Amino acid sequence: MTAPGHPSAAALLSVALEAAGAAVELVHRDRPSTLQIATKSTATDLVTEMDRAAEGLIRSIIAAARPADRFVGEESASDEDDTSGTDRTGVTWWVDPIDGTTNYVYDHPGYAVSIAAAVDGEVVAGVVADPTHGRTYRATLGGGARCSETMGGKSTDRRLELAAPPPLDHALVATGFAYDGDRRRAQGQILTGVLPRVRDIRRMGAAALDLCSVASGRVDAYYEAGLSMWDFAAGALVATEAGARVGGIDGGPVRPGSVLAAHPVLFDQMVSLLAELGA
Ligand code: IPD
Ligand code: CA
Repeated sequence: MTAPGHPSAAALLSVALEAAGAAVELVHRDRPSTLQIATKSTATDLVTEMDRAAEGLIRSIIAAARPADRFVGEESASDEDDTSGTDRTGVTWWVDPIDGTTNYVYDHPGYAVSIAAAVDGEVVAGVVADPTHGRTYRATLGGGARCSETMGGKSTDRRLELAAPPPLDHALVATGFAYDGDRRRAQGQILTGVLPRVRDIRRMGAAALDLCSVASGRVDAYYEAGLSMWDFAAGALVATEAGARVGGIDGGPVRPGSVLAAHPVLFDQMVSLLAELGA
């Protein structure tokens, strides 16, 4: 429940679903045969014209429904003042138009449109749409998490609920890396310590989907340092509402620099392992 005077989480979710659906059509169906690729923070941090076009589309759909809300999208976030509104409504939209841009550029499955709405700083609605697998994950604060899937003409819609976790040494653990070389070296060193202690590692390339993979049991845990709010805001709500604990790698609050998600029992074991390895 959001506070009186604020829009309901369900109303915000419905705007997020509309915007994500339109962005998925644009980036997936209208993908050009040749992409215009540019770089951002480092030579490996990519952006395409489709990231920008999708963000513009999402922004216009949200602005049409909720013109006075604040909008923070990955591709325009450097323009601190370039928001569609201010904090007049208390609602902020966190948008990653294509999470997993490297996968998108390489035409590799596993990129997503990620849209979250926060009220007074708390994320209350989130959508992560995965076009290559035909899945849309959605959640509202306190309202549970669901995944709708359309594949081969068949559609399903199911509630996401975490099962009991395997022991740590049987856990399939997803992670990701920053774009900066020095940070990657440090992350790689931690990873060499994690790898022999778990079932295996996955590096799938989209943080929002990694979190939804925890929610849907496709991996048992996910950790990453150095994300931005738009990468994880929606996926973290989906994972939490499916019964995962989402926090920092040190077991503290989740924050852009530090994200860990797993069943609460496995979460504590991951915190201990990562602390032992100096993460
Ligand atoms: C990236 C992906 C990747 C993660 C990076 C993110 P982007 O987002 O989520 O999996 O490891 O930290 O920056 O750049 O593709 O939107
Ligand atoms: Ca992105």
